[in-house]
Amino acid sequence: MTNMNPSDKALVPFVSVDNMMKLVHHIGVEPMLRGLADYIEADFRRWELFDKTPRVASHSAEGVIELMPTSDGEVYGFKYVNGHPKNMKEGLQTVTAFGLLADVSNGYPVLLSEMTVLTALRTAATSAMVAKYLAPKGATTMAMIGNGAQSEFQSLAMKAICGVDSVRLYDVDPEATAKAALNLAGWGMNVVSCKTAEESMEGAQIITSCTADKQYATILTDNMIGAGVHINAIGGDCPGKTELHKDILARSDVFVEYPPQTRIEGEIQQMPQDFPVTEMWEVINGTAKGRTSNQQITLFDSVGFAIEDFSALRFVRDHIQNTEFFMDLDLLADPDEPRDLFGMLQRATQ
Ligand SMILES: NC(=O)c1ccc[n+]([C@@H]2O[C@H](COP(=O)([O-])OP(=O)(O)OC[C@H]3O[C@@H](n4cnc5c(N)ncnc54)[C@H](O)[C@@H]3O)[C@@H](O)[C@H]2O)c1
Repeated sequence: MTNMNPSDKALVPFVSVDNMMKLVHHIGVEPMLRGLADYIEADFRRWELFDKTPRVASHSAEGVIELMPTSDGEVYGFKYVNGHPKNMKEGLQTVTAFGLLADVSNGYPVLLSEMTVLTALRTAATSAMVAKYLAPKGATTMAMIGNGAQSEFQSLAMKAICGVDSVRLYDVDPEATAKAALNLAGWGMNVVSCKTAEESMEGAQIITSCTADKQYATILTDNMIGAGVHINAIGGDCPGKTELHKDILARSDVFVEYPPQTRIEGEIQQMPQDFPVTEMWEVINGTAKGRTSNQQITLFDSVGFAIEDFSALRFVRDHIQNTEFFMDLDLLADPDEPRDLFGMLQRATQ
């Protein structure tokens, strides 16, 4: 067989899970969360120029597989992501992901990356970036309900970006809480393990719900929510999969990423199609109001939007330059004579 080394144009930088973890440690978890939040916020500021569509979801009895595309006109990106709440009991991740950036001018991919770790980081960075605008001033305590894969990331992002120094953990499974408490020891936060959701909310100005269940769950009921708190609702992100009782929505000012997607997937799927929401990019740009009083309940109805993944991939692309945290992947067939794809294949046997 002829030695057919791929041309430079065939090679795409690839960030494996191993290299992603090395990159995170090289940058530092908290600086990386802050850096991601800055990239996400910068892309929210130029929200209008992006191609936007609700993600393309393929539902099954067990879960969902989704594609999340967007483009800023120069760079195109997409993420593949799944959500399978029953996976955890089978020793698998609930959420796994990978994603890609491509050059819009010629369609050639310029980055392929793992995104399971990166999704946890970007989701947490987005939550904290939003909380910076919506949480009550001086918030120091967060209730963290659902202590699974995302929970430590959520806690550390709120510390790194919003100055939260105390996290109150609750999960239906005490083993999950014990795991999160162990992982968070040594990060400079006061960590309290709680036996009920109500207990976790005592003294909390921010309430994060991040559970996984394929049903209309009621993690939070109306009587649990006092005036003035900020709710960061992460786990309701699929048709038929919510966490909050709808009476809470009626009492809250609801902030979303992209309404056409959130109305399908978010907590507000329980409300009429014209239920009022505020788009976060407008709050960030100053064209809509965020928190206006200390009695107001603000609710970030997070589902995760493609632009956040685009920002995260952009961050990774910028930060792997001149490092060892990627490998070149022979991903694209790129014959010297573009029309001779078959010739290239044929010569590969010689
Ligand atoms: N909004 C976003 O951008 C975004 C991004 C990533 C993940 N998610 C969602 O976040 C959720 C959590 O993801 P994960 O990877 O941490 O899942 P995970 O399976 O690792 O953890 C979920 C945890 O929730 C707990 N739980 C289930 N029901 C509960 C209840 N009633 N009360 C308290 N705890 C309960 C489980 O015991 C488990 O420990 C999922 O629903 C996922 O789809 C959202």
